[in-house]
Amino acid sequence: MTVGKGKTLLVDGPASVTLTAGKAEVFRFQIRQARKIVIREGKRLPFNVQENASFNLALGAEAQAQEVEGDTVPHSWQAAYQTLRETPKKPAAAMVFGRVDSGKTSFCTYLVNRLVAEGLKVALLDEDLGQSDVGPPCTVAYTNVTKPVTDLFKLKPAKVFFVGANTPSLETKKTSQGVTYLTQEILATPTVDYVIVNTDGWATEEAVQFKADLAEAVKPDVVFCLQGEELPTFCAMLGDALAGFRQERVESPVAIRERTREKRRNLRELGYAKYFENGRVKVYALNHITVENKESNTLIWQRRAENLLVALYDGSRQFMGVGVIRDVDYNRKALKVFTAVQEKPASVVFGKIRLDENLREIPEKASA
Ligand SMILES: Nc1ncnc2c1ncn2[C@@H]1O[C@H](COP(=O)(O)OP(=O)(O)O)[C@@H](O)[C@H]1O
Ligand SMILES: [Mg+2]
Repeated sequence: MTVGKGKTLLVDGPASVTLTAGKAEVFRFQIRQARKIVIREGKRLPFNVQENASFNLALGAEAQAQEVEGDTVPHSWQAAYQTLRETPKKPAAAMVFGRVDSGKTSFCTYLVNRLVAEGLKVALLDEDLGQSDVGPPCTVAYTNVTKPVTDLFKLKPAKVFFVGANTPSLETKKTSQGVTYLTQEILATPTVDYVIVNTDGWATEEAVQFKADLAEAVKPDVVFCLQGEELPTFCAMLGDALAGFRQERVESPVAIRERTREKRRNLRELGYAKYFENGRVKVYALNHITVENKESNTLIWQRRAENLLVALYDGSRQFMGVGVIRDVDYNRKALKVFTAVQEKPASVVFGKIRLDENLREIPEKASA
């Protein structure tokens, strides 16, 4: 496909794209020729053409590509970048809010790409448990970004905090604790120039106080809120609760591709797949591993632990990775856990989500 200068090629995954001639950018990342870029199902990438470009496209089922006029990245993103860049404090922290599918991840990608292009050191903290880009689903995590990226999903986490739920509404306290902890970890690194914090898309009235708590945990120098056309806007709802912080509105791109709840779950399941790659069933004797929390021990003896997503920790209580309880052997008093973690963990924390054999989320039965 050939696309003229100034236009944008929008590609909806699952697809892969290779630039064969010309120049193009994805969220300000100048892509290299001959390098294949993979777009996951449920994701759309905009290739903004700088010099007449040719692309080689491989489209999967239901994937599509379309050419549109101009750049789909809103002008206000550029202004937001300037605002952040002119923040005198070091490190400067920016927090990004918005409802689901408002462009939060893409906006963070844009900011990160522009900052690293200037040689600045950027830490990205990802609080979006349900659509995590950095850590496994149901976790809060951060990473140090050193190179521009098309998809934050490719990055490896530096530190992970396990929450165990796919929405913060089920674990508001634990989620803010995770953000507090990771913010402190980031700030303990003296070389960081910018901290970008992405947040979840829970955007009801009940979410407002929670978002204010998150902001208190980070104390950002600037808050960006992605504003769409919906009324009342979530940004307006947040406005008063975040009155103590500098707030800037940024536009939600019109070219956004909204996802159904199911598509979002599929994307999350790709996230599980990534962290369970080469997983095996391991047997942990219950007298050699600490099951944290009384409630979790109760679940074991009530025979309700099966399929739960868990986190595994080493002897210094460092997060090792996630697992799924496949079975409890009550005779040998052992947990059978499917995990990609190799070493023996010292403790385990139970989450609230259950995953089946194919790592698909099992909906919670409505309690009687
Ligand atoms: N400027 C843009 N042009 C084209 N597609 C975009 C743009 N910004 C976001 N998208 C796409 O829209 C979808 C939703 O955006 P995303 O950044 O994932 O939102 P959020 O993180 O708020 O859920 C994604 O597939 C994304 O790639
Ligand atoms: Mg996102």
